Amino acid sequence: MCGIVAYVGHRQAYPIILKGLKRLEYRGYDSAGIALLNGGLNVYKKRGKVADLENHLADESLNSTIGIGHTRWATHGEPNDINAHPHYSSDEKLAIIHNGIIENYASLKKELEDRGHVFRSQTDSEVFIHFIEDIYNNNDIELEEAVRIALSKVIGAYAIVIMDSSEPDKLIAARKGSPMVFGIGENEFFIASDATPIIEYTNKVVYLNDYEIVVVKGGEFSIKSIENEVMTPYIHELDLKLESIEKGGFDHFMLKEIYEQPRSIADCLRGRLVSSQGHLVLGGLIEHMNKIVNADRIMIVACGTSWHAGLVAEYVIEELTRIPVEVEYASEFRYRNPIIRENDVVIAISQSGETADTLAAIELAKSKGAFIFGVCNVVGSSIARATHAGAYTHAGPEIGVASTKAFTAQVTVLTMMALMIAEKRGTISASTFHAILADLESIPQKVERALKLDGQIKAIAEMVASSNNALYLGRGYNFPVALEGALKLKEISYIHAEGYPAAEMKHGPIALIDEEMPVFVIATHDSGYEKIVSNIQEVKARKGKVIAVVTEGDTLVQSMADYTIQVPDTNEILMPLVSVIPLQLLSYHVAVIRGCNVDQPRNLAKSVTVE
Ligand code: M6R
Repeated sequence: MCGIVAYVGHRQAYPIILKGLKRLEYRGYDSAGIALLNGGLNVYKKRGKVADLENHLADESLNSTIGIGHTRWATHGEPNDINAHPHYSSDEKLAIIHNGIIENYASLKKELEDRGHVFRSQTDSEVFIHFIEDIYNNNDIELEEAVRIALSKVIGAYAIVIMDSSEPDKLIAARKGSPMVFGIGENEFFIASDATPIIEYTNKVVYLNDYEIVVVKGGEFSIKSIENEVMTPYIHELDLKLESIEKGGFDHFMLKEIYEQPRSIADCLRGRLVSSQGHLVLGGLIEHMNKIVNADRIMIVACGTSWHAGLVAEYVIEELTRIPVEVEYASEFRYRNPIIRENDVVIAISQSGETADTLAAIELAKSKGAFIFGVCNVVGSSIARATHAGAYTHAGPEIGVASTKAFTAQVTVLTMMALMIAEKRGTISASTFHAILADLESIPQKVERALKLDGQIKAIAEMVASSNNALYLGRGYNFPVALEGALKLKEISYIHAEGYPAAEMKHGPIALIDEEMPVFVIATHDSGYEKIVSNIQEVKARKGKVIAVVTEGDTLVQSMADYTIQVPDTNEILMPLVSVIPLQLLSYHVAVIRGCNVDQPRNLAKSVTVE
């Protein structure tokens, strides 16, 4: 959470930082601030969105070729002007931006207060810069050395950038546990939480590793470890297009990303699957095939929507490969001393590749000797680098806080994995393998057709928008889709929604059903169809309002449900890729009708880099 941007070079820093903060606003948006060197070190900050800061600064003279900026998702201290970043040292000669949490900040603060430091904010980040200042002022050392000493004493996670008023061409940055990308231009340098603020100016970037410190000074840079060892950076060439991080004519990123799915699924399949040749190769899997094929058990760790993709994968992998699969919330897994055996394989799923709980679950599994396979969207992200092997989802940047195209790309990759493993294990017949390959290849067109239902879904959204609660039911492969539909609705429209396996309804949730309650039932043609038809009858008998997602041509459910949404048919193991589309669209429209901020829902952030 929180986005950071910094610039030093020959251009005006303010517009670069402001634009960068707007691109990073998905990471946090309760307050924002900027520090510039314009006749002294000046900090400008404001509660609210980056646009509020921009308005606030409309009449200021903001000339500076160096600056740091921050968009906040509050952890310590409520969102207000004072707690917004950047924070000053006590002599106001240094300023810091920080993404992360300093866990031992209370004891550091007490020590510093005893030594006369006075704090203006309630943040851990202000304590951090005072701590650095204290070390700097009490020792005859360079500022970077003071930073290094401070970093060796703080506990927690950080991506920080520090500016010093006495050195107008210098920035010091460091990371541990929070992402940081360092951009190298022609006599100019950029630092940001991800590459989106940088891409316009240079495609040369270094993904900093944990415990690395970069010092930019006098047009040059150096990277050292926290142990003072000089590091040789690997300079990546970014393959990110500016258009992919803009709205491209859509009202919201979420809608754009929903509509991108035929393309993002096709990108995910490209070069990996050619059904006419029976070709299916995930590069990252090949090298480790023996390990995975011979796994006694697969454990999947993830959070939120990625966890739902993991749940789909549990059904698919077990069905096709007959390897037992367990799916765990990374946040539970990491704290419960899980049993991991030598032949277990752990799959970590994450869109951002930065989710703190998933990262910690990976570290725990690694420490117990497990082999970790990552399924990530963001190239070069912390999780992509922490895993032993992996496959990217290639969905392109996902900026809307509500995950959509990442989910379908994750399910696509995991299904390809399952098919490859099954083929190698001989647990799938050649004809089934080829049939599923062909069906998988045709998913982008089916998603395209499902998107055409938008007008009908918008009309249903009008009815749902006034509800206070909603229930989502599904069975088998569609059960995780029910969970995902409920998550989408609650996170962006603030309607309370629950997802359940349809048969579980009678064990409790059925008590909630009355004529006010919209019940979404995913009742596509699959092996559980007849059972779910009975569940629909149970809901109707209690006067619930049924909105059913059914297979094209279905007449039985149509005769019972209040509304039906007909999606194209496909193999049942692939149905989540299609049946989720109307639920994404519905949540989007409900949120718009209710006047909610679709791309920046309250209290949420895109990357959850705190535990
Ligand atoms: O980046 P990750 O996939 O690791 O993120 C996991 C969750 O934080 C994320 O899926 C979250 O639940 C989304 N807001 C759901 O739309």
